[in-house]
Amino acid sequence: MRPLLWEGRRLSVLDQRLLPTRVKWVGLRTAEDAFSAIAEMKVRGAPLIGVVGAFGLALEAGRMGSTPLPRFREGLERVASRLVSARPTAVNLKWAVDRCMDSAARAGTVPEAKEALMEEAEWIMAYEERTARRLGEIGERLIRDGDTVMTHCNAGSLATVDYGTALSPIRVAIEKGKKVKVVATETRPALQGARLTALELQKDGIDTTLISDTMVGYAMSQGMVDLVMLGADRVLRDGHVINKIGTYQVATMASRHSVPFYSVFPWSTVDMKTEKEGVRIEQRSPKEVEFVRGRRVAPKGIKVFNPAFDITPPELVTGLVTERGIILPPFYSKLEEADGAPYEAVGGGN
Ligand code: MRU
Repeated sequence: MRPLLWEGRRLSVLDQRLLPTRVKWVGLRTAEDAFSAIAEMKVRGAPLIGVVGAFGLALEAGRMGSTPLPRFREGLERVASRLVSARPTAVNLKWAVDRCMDSAARAGTVPEAKEALMEEAEWIMAYEERTARRLGEIGERLIRDGDTVMTHCNAGSLATVDYGTALSPIRVAIEKGKKVKVVATETRPALQGARLTALELQKDGIDTTLISDTMVGYAMSQGMVDLVMLGADRVLRDGHVINKIGTYQVATMASRHSVPFYSVFPWSTVDMKTEKEGVRIEQRSPKEVEFVRGRRVAPKGIKVFNPAFDITPPELVTGLVTERGIILPPFYSKLEEADGAPYEAVGGGN
């Protein structure tokens, strides 16, 4: 289930808000189209919003008329900061837009900069796709024949370009002949688990059981889960994992029940610069909690707290699965060391 199509320099994305009941493709032609698609969560998932942000910038640059290079760069800066502000927590968006800006900065003319932006966006898309597959090949070693894996939110094809992050090892393990079952949490309030993960896995014929978020502890206490694999929106150099709201609860329960807890992500999700206190956790509209699929479920005027992500401390994390290998504690020194490796190792680009 690829969530985007890039054909003849035209970008279309699947409107994920409508899944699983409706399949609707939406064309994105401008940076503002990309901004709205990301902010409104037509596209979501850390790697995917990075890819869409990069194409948004490249498409917008292509629309800019013939201006002198300094003016072109100023315009581009404004577009880039707007795109990055669409969602503040997943670092992949900033990573992708920054890479595009760096490639444009190296160009000597406006046409060269436009071409460089396109090439960079295409490289980012290819990097995310190839890396997702690689995450599967590396992470499947952690899954034994007969295991049941719990996952949270959607870290599948729909969150990336293909395969997924946390769902990729499950897919590869099954390809290799292992019997693997999945327990997927529904993931309130946006229901990415129920709407997207359940859909993807069911389409692939993978034995999947959907539970509500409130059932995580009980499911683990009943021995229903052998390991947890989920994605990440940002991983800090000391191993803090910032991921979909509810991840911290899953990690706490996993620790309580001695269930190994792995986060699976590409290096584009790693933020070596920011401290935990500096990470902005996106707060979304109260309506997401007050309403379920358009139906009010709480009284009007009630106070609502709706953070989209939470922070899991490193002591609850068994390991980090990346394209640069499986990283076990202590995370700080190992992430520092792996950060020195080039992206070329997987992406084949610069
Ligand atoms: O709000 P979303 O749906 O964009 O959140 C997505 C997640 O939290 C995923 O778990 C995360 O992006 C990792 S998936 C590749």
